[in-house]
Amino acid sequence: MTRADWDPRNLPDLSGRTYLVTGATRGLGFFACEQIAAAGAHVLLTGRSPHKLQTAKEAVKRTNPDASIETLLLDTSNLGSVRAAAATARARGRLDGLLLNAGIVHPPKTRETAGGHELVFATNVLGHFALAGEMLKPLAAARGRMVWVGSMSTSLWNHVPTDPELVEGYSPWRAYVQSKAATTALGLEADRRLRAHSVPVESLIAHPGYSTSGRTRGIRGVNEPSRLSRFVDNLQAPITQSKEQGAWSLVRALVDPTAEGGTMYGPTLVARGLPRPATPSRRSRGADLGADLWQHCETATHVRWPFDRARRAAS
Ligand SMILES: NC(=O)c1ccc[n+]([C@@H]2O[C@H](COP(=O)([O-])OP(=O)(O)OC[C@H]3O[C@@H](n4cnc5c(N)ncnc54)[C@H](OP(=O)(O)O)[C@@H]3O)[C@@H](O)[C@H]2O)c1
Repeated sequence: MTRADWDPRNLPDLSGRTYLVTGATRGLGFFACEQIAAAGAHVLLTGRSPHKLQTAKEAVKRTNPDASIETLLLDTSNLGSVRAAAATARARGRLDGLLLNAGIVHPPKTRETAGGHELVFATNVLGHFALAGEMLKPLAAARGRMVWVGSMSTSLWNHVPTDPELVEGYSPWRAYVQSKAATTALGLEADRRLRAHSVPVESLIAHPGYSTSGRTRGIRGVNEPSRLSRFVDNLQAPITQSKEQGAWSLVRALVDPTAEGGTMYGPTLVARGLPRPATPSRRSRGADLGADLWQHCETATHVRWPFDRARRAAS
């Protein structure tokens, strides 16, 4: 059951709820924070640069002086940083939702690594797998939700991510699309495992269509596209939207009370539009792929999701 009349400009009252958003210093993560904070949520705005975090916090406060915002350093490519941020976030108390948004969208031309793992996979996938596992207990205690950010690009490319670290055959496009296919597969696998262990946490997926900076309002230190970007992005107007609009699907997946675990949200016209239920790409849906990736992530991060302890935390 989902609400047909969802209005992204008129969210339910989120007072008393706390959400953590990764990659919140600009782009979709920033606008998701702005939207949920305007609805009354307390937001843990996370990112890898203290200066950018402060700038983003001030930008949210400029449009909404009453916004309840805390900042937290979190570099998703660095498992030590993920663990430290998770410990701080746990100590800060209640958590209703986790938006796993941070991502490298324009990967390096040649393969790079972070902590021994391919950089795009480490940033977009491993850090989020570890963070969600680390935050499972507080999420369960609040009967909360996690949202994984996929991409419509996974429907455009017929490839199964059987070599997640791209030891062979690295290309920037391949690294990006396969990280997003893996993210989607893990979001679905998380839903299966949470249900199997009777943990009352929902795992959903969202994608923002095609959302560009050049179609997004300027915000000092947060969104400052060049004139050329504005020109080029506006040429693509029929198939693009602003990052503010792109955040709508992510926010709906995070806060729509009728949304269910294992579902996906995306724009009505795929690349743009109001948020509505969407279908993950066929390749991302395979349970075998989800299980293989899960095992790979457990080995790579040394994080085992504490399903039993999370179930007990909820009771
Ligand atoms: N825009 C689209 O059309 C589109 C389409 C499909 C999917 N997506 C997905 O949506 C998400 C956000 O995309 P976007 O368009 O908003 O991208 P963006 O404007 O490039 O913003 C990316 C955000 O992720 C952060 N980030 C990058 N590496 C990080 C790290 N190691 N640790 C912590 N934060 C990190 C960036 O922080 P810094 O400011 O420090 O760099 C920034 O806040 C990504 O997962 C992307 O794959 C976007």
